Amino acid sequence: MNRICELLSVSYPILQGGMGNISSSELASAVSNAGGLGTIGAGTMSPDEVEKLMVEMKARTSLPFALNIPINVTPHFKEMCELAVKHNVKVVSLSAGNPSPYIPYFKEHGIKVICVTASVKHAKKAESAGADIIVGEGFEAAGINSTLELTTLTLIPQLKSSVSIPVVAAGGVGDGKGLAAAFVLGADGVQMGTRLVATKDSPYHAQYLEQILQSNDTGTVVVGRSVGQVRRLLKTKYSTMLEEAEKNGVHPIDFAKMTGEDKHIIGAIEGRLEEGFINGGQVSGLIDSLPTVEELFLNMMQEATEAVEHQIAQLNMFKQANH
Ligand SMILES: Cc1cc2nc3c(=O)[nH]c(=O)nc-3n(C[C@H](O)[C@H](O)[C@H](O)COP(=O)(O)O)c2cc1C
Repeated sequence: MNRICELLSVSYPILQGGMGNISSSELASAVSNAGGLGTIGAGTMSPDEVEKLMVEMKARTSLPFALNIPINVTPHFKEMCELAVKHNVKVVSLSAGNPSPYIPYFKEHGIKVICVTASVKHAKKAESAGADIIVGEGFEAAGINSTLELTTLTLIPQLKSSVSIPVVAAGGVGDGKGLAAAFVLGADGVQMGTRLVATKDSPYHAQYLEQILQSNDTGTVVVGRSVGQVRRLLKTKYSTMLEEAEKNGVHPIDFAKMTGEDKHIIGAIEGRLEEGFINGGQVSGLIDSLPTVEELFLNMMQEATEAVEHQIAQLNMFKQANH
């Protein structure tokens, strides 16, 4: 049995990443119902808003789902922890901050803890503090990114050889080849964001989905390096405006306002791409269809099997040719 499936009681080792204030029970429940781990993200939402999403989730699925709490982003950290316990959430994912002091609280309540990290040092710390799973997020990923800028290809094998708990690869995974590659690198599973936005189960604005479909290899941009608030977005007029603001020496507080969750809602849900931004990972360049989440997972499993079989056949050929 795969360690992620066993730990999380899911059929596929595929996790949905947190999606801040645009989290939706439609998409998260589709992920859980298709055999993965759906996730509701707390973002900067109020406890009432997040509780509403959790109640909706329970009405849409009886399968496990996670609550993502971005530690340094949510203004209601304590309330979010309490909500997870109140609603008997099976899994919590902690990102954007140091999770170590908070892991014991969840463990005492029988909740599995996933820690999203972007370096070996932080993964080791999280493991020592009792984390159950490490998500290693590479710089290909959508949304808020680590200033360390490590890529998934190099991060995952280093995490794998540094911790003994299961490692999940995030950033750049969107198809069966990506899944197979993650396994070969040593991951026990994958976490996806961008690919799940571009599905029939996604409730986001058609403009957002269309931007992902139209995107090519250079379709995303990293903004915020100059103010220490690194974020990967799909290229739009709004992202160009953010780049211009940085060139003109924007103040970090103003930049934070320009990239606040309200601006993401304007872009992603209202589709007003000149007034708000849309998160997107480099994997956007690989995405050209809108399957249901269920179809996506089935395709990924099939494609991963074919990719691995093809590579084994090729490697065997090399072996025979060189003997
Ligand atoms: C719309 C969107 C919102 C996101 N918001 C969050 C968030 O609130 N918390 C978090 O830990 N990660 C967030 N992320 C990152 C994802 O959870 C995930 O790790 C990432 O998208 C994986 O890379 P990929 O986009 O290449 O699949 C977000 C990603 C997207 C696409």
